[in-house]
Amino acid sequence: MYTEKVMDHFMNPRNMGEITQASGVGTVGNAKCGDIMRIFLEIKDGIIEDVKFKTFGCGAAVATSSMATELVKGKSIQEAMTITNKAVAEALDGLPPVKMHCSLLAEEALHAALYDYATKNNIVIDGLEAPKADIHEGEEVEDEE
Ligand code: FES
Repeated sequence: MYTEKVMDHFMNPRNMGEITQASGVGTVGNAKCGDIMRIFLEIKDGIIEDVKFKTFGCGAAVATSSMATELVKGKSIQEAMTITNKAVAEALDGLPPVKMHCSLLAEEALHAALYDYATKNNIVIDGLEAPKADIHEGEEVEDEE
């Protein structure tokens, strides 16, 4: 069901953890499965110098968060904006169709973290919209569908 790359990133997740004093933090959840993903970004001079994630979720969510962090590390903000959930899934050599929504969580968490950074620094990132499913401690995750 899963490719070797998915299994590898699930068994040995890259960049797992958190960044204290992160430049931007994004937390998103999927109300249907209850999975939650948080991405921390360290941004200097427009470059994502470090990125970490914490995912409370399924194997595909862990693997996609791990791959998403690998893809954005060292990239500029605009380059990171081009990394979609499809790009993450492709980098993992594919995901089963029923698991594509898990990769969407990684894209949304990344965008939420970038949005947090943009808000804190009073800048506008081209093509970035306010996160739909941003959640905070103690708040309930709303079902968007
Ligand atoms: Fe919820 Fe995968 S089943 S993110």
